[in-house]
Amino acid sequence: MSDKLFLNTLSGTKSKTTPLWMMRQAGRYLAEYRAVRSSQKDFISFCLNPEKASEITIQPITRFGFDAAIIFSDILMIPWAMNRNVRFKTGVGPLLDPMERPSDIEDDVLRDLSSKLQPVGKAISLTRAALPDKTALIGFAGAPWTLITYMAEGGSSRDFATARLWAWKDKTALDGLLEILIDATVQFLTIQAKAGAEALMLFDSWAGAVPASQRDWLVIKPARNIVEKLRQNGVDLPVIGFPKGIGEGLIAYAHEAGVTAVGLDHGVDPAWANTYLPKAMPVQGNLDPLSLISGGEAMTADIDHILECFADRPHIFNLGHGITPATPVDHVQQMIDRVRQR
Ligand code: CP3
Repeated sequence: MSDKLFLNTLSGTKSKTTPLWMMRQAGRYLAEYRAVRSSQKDFISFCLNPEKASEITIQPITRFGFDAAIIFSDILMIPWAMNRNVRFKTGVGPLLDPMERPSDIEDDVLRDLSSKLQPVGKAISLTRAALPDKTALIGFAGAPWTLITYMAEGGSSRDFATARLWAWKDKTALDGLLEILIDATVQFLTIQAKAGAEALMLFDSWAGAVPASQRDWLVIKPARNIVEKLRQNGVDLPVIGFPKGIGEGLIAYAHEAGVTAVGLDHGVDPAWANTYLPKAMPVQGNLDPLSLISGGEAMTADIDHILECFADRPHIFNLGHGITPATPVDHVQQMIDRVRQR
């Protein structure tokens, strides 16, 4: 047993207190984040500055004492390292050079990937040294399908039409791109593991856009390949898979993706999840981040409901997606108190 509640829960132990952290816990809803952010012009170089990234990672731990910290970085660091010209535009979000076809990227992009992403490793080792003993550190990456949606469209998208169309009419080329991204993700997560991350999370934020008949190929198998290759690299850390929006596909994902635990988005009924997911598998989630904007009774009722549904299984409390910039900090504290008072 470790003295870290978060890691014990991931290893299958049910404790009296439920560990918690929040996706995007280091971010714009915090004044201390905005203060540091305003001194940094460019988001990518901000993520590649180990001292700053570490300072930002620790901010929500200092303020709230979450059970886990997640390294301050971004899923788009891999497309950035593949020269997709990633930049962030205020009020718009991420922008990349759009791709014309999946074969636009060849595997020579992997050559300098590890050295380009090394600063994230440095940020992890600095953070590990500075965190309180009871706080676990999570490393992460975006899953291949989600990266493909951004790389294909050149940014965020409403319907992910380019990537979805490739899945129907350009299967062989898309498979080649998946392979490259699987390798890149394994390299990135291995750097983070070797630098001192204690758990890894794979964000498949747009898994919900994949047609059910294509899920196995585009969502489940890539996750399983990544976990297998990590194990071959000697990385034995727990892996949390987060196939957002995948609905009933969670059952196959939980059984077949090779992950230690699954993250649930707020569209998943926790009673359903508890019934249909493998009995001993730890789950993470799944309060609607917008309930934190209202706070109060509506929010606490949902917190109680989620905790009750998972009373008999290892459960890490979290949101169903990232916290939004408009969230009052008081409501975050209300949520934490509610989870911990039980
Ligand atoms: O605290 C943490 O959770 C760690 C840091 C983290 C960030 N991005 C920092 C960030 C994590 C885990 C991510 C993951 C990420 N990034 C995902 C997967 C999770 C999800 O939300 O589905 C995705 C899809 C991205 C891509 C991305 N990065 C987008 C769409 C944006 C713009 C969104 C916005 O709100 O403007 C980003 C930028 C980003 N990444 C910010 C932060 C704190 C805001 C940028 C800023 O400060 O200007």
